[in-house]
Amino acid sequence: KKVLFSGMQATGNLTIGNYLGALKNWVNIGDEYECFFSVVDLHSITVRQDPATLRKRARELLTLYIAAGLDAEKNCIYYQSHVSAHAELSWILNCFTYMGELNRMTQFKDKSAKNADNINSGLFTYPVLMAADILLYQTDVVPVGIDQMQHLEIARDIGTRFNSIYGDVFTIPEIYMGKVGRKIMSLQEPSKKMSKSDENPNGSIYLTDEPDAIIRKFKRAVTDSGSDVIYSEDKPGIKNLIDIYCAITGKETKEVEKEFDGKGYGDFKLAVGETVMDCLKPIQDKQKELLKDKQYIDGVIKNNAEKANYFATKTLRKVQRKVGFPDRV
Ligand code: TYM
Repeated sequence: KKVLFSGMQATGNLTIGNYLGALKNWVNIGDEYECFFSVVDLHSITVRQDPATLRKRARELLTLYIAAGLDAEKNCIYYQSHVSAHAELSWILNCFTYMGELNRMTQFKDKSAKNADNINSGLFTYPVLMAADILLYQTDVVPVGIDQMQHLEIARDIGTRFNSIYGDVFTIPEIYMGKVGRKIMSLQEPSKKMSKSDENPNGSIYLTDEPDAIIRKFKRAVTDSGSDVIYSEDKPGIKNLIDIYCAITGKETKEVEKEFDGKGYGDFKLAVGETVMDCLKPIQDKQKELLKDKQYIDGVIKNNAEKANYFATKTLRKVQRKVGFPDRV
């Protein structure tokens, strides 16, 4: 079987952008692959975190993966910090990555502008750790949203560079993105990505939002002039709502235009809100139920960390040998 790797940060409140751009695709295509889904807590501390909150959110995120439909027996669902090979490979790859390459990363520029008082070197080498995550498992495919594209490209570049020096050590991964949902926009400012860190809570639908909040936010969503539900670049607000609707229902944009032909924006916004609500409710319920089952979740954490360690260590040993570290005796 081919290998799939992806990860998510347990920082902030997850949005339907995270769900539709990533998690939902993991569930959709995962069966065809040997899968590794990580809660990437090493990445999280590139921004200052409250320890108790980080720990709590990490557990909630790991549980969410399962609640969203990933089988914890078939998929390796684990904490990045429980597999030390991520940090070790990351160090080695740092020595094969140029400052100039990292300087071009737009996410670093954005994040350092937002965190001017804490531009640490972890934030700068963040993409190298991400490359290590992926390359450690000999990953074939990485399902992510479009905002991770640049990071995926640098991971491929680092892997290719290493291979060209030492022979075929790493599989070079491909990116996977869904047809729709690869970039969900803010409901209040459709030119901006929907984001966990948006100050305006009305712009984002959080995965923890209650039904009435979901409906209210969709009713208030910014729409465009005119009144027809048409999928067009000139109508970024409506286009975004159609994307959300299509990503959940699997319908084509043309079908949606037909479905709402002659109906106004109001009816459409309500329909999207209800669809999102119906989609999130069972996941939320399942997550709550799972969080109570301490023994089960602890078992998943322990077993999967062992499994991830096994595969990651295999690659790490090979790399250590290639670069010239002494053999273990
Ligand atoms: P993170 O935690 O910011 O986001 C998790 C996933 O959600 C996707 N996403 C979106 N997709 C569509 N529309 C949006 N508005 C939206 N917002 C977020 C992201 O593209 C991502 O797929 N660096 C990564 C985590 C990571 C990783 C990895 C991913 C670490 N190592 C290795 C893949 C492979 C991140 O911070 O994602």
